[in-house]
Amino acid sequence: MKSNQFRLNNGVTIPSIGLGTFSVPYDSKRTEEAVQLALEMGYRHFDTAKLYGSEPAVGKVIKRAILDGKVKREDVFITSKLWGCDHHDPVSALMTTLENLGLEYLDMYLVHWPLKLKPWAMYLIPNEEDYEPLDMETTWAGMEKCLDLGLCRCIGLSNFSSTKIQRLLDFATVSPAVNQVEMHPAWRQATLRGFCAEHKIHVSAYSPLGGPGNSWGSTTVIENPIIKSIALKHKTTPSQVALKWGLSKGSTVIVKSFNPDRMRENLGALNLNLDDQDLLEIEKMEERKILRGDVYCNDTTSPYRTIDDIWDGEI
Ligand SMILES: NC(=O)c1ccc[n+]([C@@H]2O[C@H](COP(=O)([O-])OP(=O)(O)OC[C@H]3O[C@@H](n4cnc5c(N)ncnc54)[C@H](OP(=O)(O)O)[C@@H]3O)[C@@H](O)[C@H]2O)c1
Repeated sequence: MKSNQFRLNNGVTIPSIGLGTFSVPYDSKRTEEAVQLALEMGYRHFDTAKLYGSEPAVGKVIKRAILDGKVKREDVFITSKLWGCDHHDPVSALMTTLENLGLEYLDMYLVHWPLKLKPWAMYLIPNEEDYEPLDMETTWAGMEKCLDLGLCRCIGLSNFSSTKIQRLLDFATVSPAVNQVEMHPAWRQATLRGFCAEHKIHVSAYSPLGGPGNSWGSTTVIENPIIKSIALKHKTTPSQVALKWGLSKGSTVIVKSFNPDRMRENLGALNLNLDDQDLLEIEKMEERKILRGDVYCNDTTSPYRTIDDIWDGEI
């Protein structure tokens, strides 16, 4: 493993810092500019999803860079995700994603959430009538088909608990390469990381800074006194400490910034070295999941009545 990439269970390598592209309200021009700048700075991993609306912007920039000879397709790693309404037909959904991107294949295709929705429900917060019973055997068979057809190089999961992954492993022909979940110093995912390590599934950390500045996010990570004191000790920033903590746990970190200075700062986390004492201090931090998924719970139609049902007690 090189320090700036990890190897997945299928032999594919994944760059360790990915640029997140989910922003609200969505602005295609800003997204394009950020992806362009990120590419110039050295980011080689981009995280998008059909739901985010950012696939066309990501694809446009990457395609142009490939045509201009600035980067080769195989040097860039692109992740996108299957939304709940597309569980009916992952192959068609991925073909639409590829059309949006203007590319021939995706590097990583993830099941965005363990949620199946009616075909029209392409929105973040479903209505009560939008839910369908989750049927991961059919969904995963469709994901495996995507792989067989060469539409993507890897398939994986997002927001899956250990219990839900175990259920999937009981019938899957292809093991997921990745589970992308919320993970940062204030939500460390020790149980899930242990389970995934045992099954050779790479854990990718979204919201690795806790999403400061996002309406759904929090500053509890970058303003935490422990993180701040480690930053002071190493003459670095709280964000670099948080990102390096994720990397030191063997995770890729998917961090969103569209601000040039912060994009550069985040990439600089690769150069930081945290010592054992720093890591022990971080273990003392109080934990609280930020993106809990309350909006996916109801008493009638959702497979989840409570957030405990979504995370199977891992919350
Ligand atoms: N699979 C899923 O269900 C899922 C869920 C959530 C997120 N994600 C992915 O993960 C990506 C990142 O997640 P996220 O946006 O929730 O959390 P995040 O990356 O932890 O935080 C992003 C926020 O922090 C700010 N920021 C970035 N770098 C900073 C720095 N060095 N110092 C101070 N503030 C900084 C950004 O603002 P500026 O842009 O102004 O810098 C933005 O408001 C998303 O874009 C998406 O691709 C996936």
